[in-house]
Parts: sequence; C-alpha cells; structure tokens
Amino acid sequence: MGALPYAFGVPDALESSLLSTDLAGIVLRNPVILAAGTAGYLDETADVLDLSRIGAVITKSITARPRPGNKTWRIIETRAGMLNAVGLANMGHEVFERELGPRVARVPTTVIGSISGFSVEDYVAVAAAMERIEAVPAVELNMSCPNVSGGMEFCSTPEMAGLLLREVRPVLQRCRLFVKLSPRTYDIVGVAGACIDAGVDALTIANTYPAMAIDVETRRPRLSRTTGGLSGPAIHPIALKLVHEVHQGVAMQAGVPIIGVGGVMRWEDAAEFILAGASAVQMGTAIFADPRSPQRVAQGLARWVRRQGCASLRELVGAMETDR
Ligand SMILES: Cc1cc2nc3c(=O)[nH]c(=O)nc-3n(C[C@H](O)[C@H](O)[C@H](O)COP(=O)(O)O)c2cc1C
Repeated sequence: MGALPYAFGVPDALESSLLSTDLAGIVLRNPVILAAGTAGYLDETADVLDLSRIGAVITKSITARPRPGNKTWRIIETRAGMLNAVGLANMGHEVFERELGPRVARVPTTVIGSISGFSVEDYVAVAAAMERIEAVPAVELNMSCPNVSGGMEFCSTPEMAGLLLREVRPVLQRCRLFVKLSPRTYDIVGVAGACIDAGVDALTIANTYPAMAIDVETRRPRLSRTTGGLSGPAIHPIALKLVHEVHQGVAMQAGVPIIGVGGVMRWEDAAEFILAGASAVQMGTAIFADPRSPQRVAQGLARWVRRQGCASLRELVGAMETDR
C-alpha cells in the first residue's frame, strides 16, 4: 500500500519539522503563539488545550505594581470581534516572580514574559524580574502604554520608542527582547526602525485598535471606560498590512523576525501573515470563541506547507508573489 494521504492530519513528527520556527535563536515547535492577556498567566488553558502542541504562550502583561484593572464591563463582544479595556489587571512583578516563576519550567511549551509599564523605571524593573526567571527565554515589551511623564504612549513616535528601549535593552542579558508595537502611531515603520536600532530581537505587530460601542437603549457606553481596544476578525486585514509594511520597510533588510497578531481565527489568516513576512503568529480572540482553535490552525498550516511543495514553513515567510 502506498503512502496514505494526510486526510486526517499530518503526523506529529512531520508536523514539527514542517512548522518549527526560529525567533532570534529561540526555536518554537510551531509558529502558533497564545497572545498576551488572552490565555491567563501561564498554563490556565491546559484543561482545554494541549499546550505541547502550541509554539509558545505569552503571559498576561506584568507591571511593576499589582493592578486591579478597570471596572466591568471591561470585555464585550462585537459583531466582528471583541472590545476590551481590562486595564492591565495583574499581580505585579514581585508576586509573579515569587509565586509563578518556579512553575514556568513545568509548562509544556515556551513561555514568553509580557512586560508593561507607565514609566521607563517600571519597564526596567519588570524586565529585570523576567531576566531572573531562567525558564523565560524572551520578554515581549507591550508598548501600548501611556508614559505618565508626558502622557504620550511609548509606541507613538520613534523617539519615544528609542528612549524606552535604550534603558530596557541592557537589563536583558540572557532574555531576548521582543517589542509589541501598537497601531496607534502615524509611523509604524519609523517606530519599528527605532526599535531595531535599539537592538530588539523581534517585532510583534500589532496590539488592538482604539474603538468603542454604545448601548442605544440606555445610551451609555458599553465599556466602563467608554473606549477600549478592538481585536478579532475585524482587525486582521489592517494588521496584515502593518506586517507587510514593516517587513518591506525595515525588518527584512535587518533580518529581524516579525510575529503577526490580529484576528487569526483560521489557518488561512495565519498563512497570510506568514506570506506577508511574519515568522510566527499569535492568537487571542479566537481562544475565547474556541480554545482549541490554535491546535487546528497549526494543523492547517502543516497541510498548507506540504501543498505548497515546501519542506518547511520558513520557505514561505515573506513569499507573497507580486507583479513587480
Ligand atoms: C481580553 C484581552 C486582554 C488583553 N490583554 C493584553 C495584555 O495584557 N497585554 C498585551 O500586550 N495585549 C493584550 N491584549 C491584546 C492581545 O494580546 C492581541 O494583541 C489582540 O487581542 C489582537 O489579537 P486577536 O485579534 O487575535 O485577539 C489583550 C486582548 C484581549 C482581547
């Protein structure tokens, strides 16, 4: 009997050789990562999702001090996604390091620590805590936070981004530094360039998009904070364009990998990010709709790589065909 077609999926060993990806020296078994703030601190999704089949998990964003976050409602459903204004609710870096740090090594996938702050000093303190947790090989710096001195978000301009990263970079000796950009800038290519100049190892593109919703019967905003961040299918084509622009504009030439995030619900969405130049993708909103969807996306990608006649997904990174 000849080889069976992979009608029921690609065998495990083959799947990992097709899908393994390299983010600045950190090799993931596949490119599907659980996005910050959508999958708990570490392995809370393990009851419903086999984490050994996932490329990596990003922790909830950790700040210098514990934060209760915003009042409810802080997460709501919209027609094509979700709106959230969670307000970075988290236990703070001291408790995270003490209580959860020792558990990181037991999580059956790579754990990347998300760090947030409201001042340069905040980010430096949380980065230092992550650096001390040996089982964390990389941090993802969430740049969508307002700087208390000045009020502007760190992601707004290349100058602000450079200012922050020049202080955080030296704190991380062992950990890789990934930076999660925000779409809330007029110059994402310029901000990405400043991050690369400051020595970041990978770029995550991008965070949520400012948005709001109103209950027309009560005439009140549906989120307690009025506005929040939009995620899910609605944002995918916008995030895809940002990945394409940053890949073409600065990242490809500098050899800095991109992680695409925004509305990955099906393997096709992930494949689009890969073709636009991403080496990995993250999923957030999809986990709320179906916690097992990341596994299905990985399987779909493996079948796609084979159909494309490639030995590895890496051959398809940035492989979008253009007429020019
Ligand atoms: C409920 C919720 C909480 C989030 N919390 C964080 C967070 O703590 N840090 C962060 O960098 N991004 C956070 N995000 C943004 C996600 O990581 C992701 O960038 C965004 O949801 C877009 O991806 P998606 O369309 O796959 O959900 C959060 C998103 C949601 C929906």
